[in-house]
Amino acid sequence: MTLSLATAGESHGPALVAIVSGLPAGLVLDRAAIDADLQRRQQGYGRSPRQQIETDEVEVLAGLRHGRTLGTPLALFVRNRDHRNWEWGMSPWPPEGEPAGKGTKPVTLPRPGHADLAGSQKFGFADVRDALERASARHTAVIVAAGAVAKALLREIEVDVEGAAHPEHGADPDAVDAARADRDTLGGIVEVTARGVPPGLGSYVSRETRLDARLAAAVMGIQAVKGVEIGDGFALAGLRGSEAHDEIEPDRRRATNRAGGIEAGVSNGEEVVVRAAMKPLPTLMRPLRSVDLETGEPAEALVERSDVSAVEALAVVAEAAVAFELARAAREKFGGDALGDFVAAWRAYLERIAWTAR
Ligand SMILES: Cc1cc2nc3c(=O)[nH]c(=O)nc-3n(C[C@H](O)[C@H](O)[C@H](O)COP(=O)(O)O)c2cc1C
Repeated sequence: MTLSLATAGESHGPALVAIVSGLPAGLVLDRAAIDADLQRRQQGYGRSPRQQIETDEVEVLAGLRHGRTLGTPLALFVRNRDHRNWEWGMSPWPPEGEPAGKGTKPVTLPRPGHADLAGSQKFGFADVRDALERASARHTAVIVAAGAVAKALLREIEVDVEGAAHPEHGADPDAVDAARADRDTLGGIVEVTARGVPPGLGSYVSRETRLDARLAAAVMGIQAVKGVEIGDGFALAGLRGSEAHDEIEPDRRRATNRAGGIEAGVSNGEEVVVRAAMKPLPTLMRPLRSVDLETGEPAEALVERSDVSAVEALAVVAEAAVAFELARAAREKFGGDALGDFVAAWRAYLERIAWTAR
């Protein structure tokens, strides 16, 4: 039994869609909790005015009856309210009538650091919008919705996942104001902590099963993430072994947690800690040098409404990505078609290893 996630949707298209397969039947979902996470994703200092247009709300098209999962694929849907301004420009079918609204003219000025140039080369697009619409981080709205579902499942086995901007490297309001005044952008660091993860999720058997590799891929899979570390990560490289490893107490707990809760690709019962570095966002109000793809002449890159910083939003998205991957590993370990089977398998396992949650 595993959990899987498929998504579809463009930034200014009609909607974003996620299909979550492999949930047990009988999991109670709380619409307000999913919407609260969607709204957390829209907040943070330095976001663009688009966040005032969008008030994301989840809709469920399948897999749920009276608030309980049916054990069938769960189809989640988040509308792009901004689509009303792009109806012609982002019409799925050949548009009717005169061009109106946004997105009617082809974009030919690729932004350094975005999907624009490589994406257009790869797919053979003359209008860069065909690449940037899907590459955009608007897509992360449904990652957050799916993550909220994963968190509901994890709560049943007393696992709690929380993401936050790094207190020193999280783009504070003064730094954001200064960057905005310079028409520039910022990146930063976020940290996700998962408490209550039992020992034994993931496996050392292969790259595909290693929990550290899976979490790194899940978080690196988010737009603008350029570095991921588990526990003390890069800092461990500069230490001696005697300073780096977490000694084992008689109760099998650790006095320290430099490993970030994972050894040999397997959770060890300590908090799972994942950090991600976000690069400065690529859309600059004072654009960088580029080329006009139509004329081949030097040009300034596309300027489009954009965030100055999205570090706090990334914390919410990374939380969702980590939660989803942990839920997937838990489904693999504890299985079960009904939620009760899943929880009973978790209880029996904790009993076998004589593990009590701290
Ligand atoms: C929550 C979030 C919001 C983002 N908002 C913007 C934005 O407003 N403008 C922008 O240029 N990039 C934004 N990005 C980053 C781009 O989507 C990303 O840099 C781009 O797709 C290229 O992918 P890469 O950075 O992973 O190489 C955002 C990323 C995240 C995670």
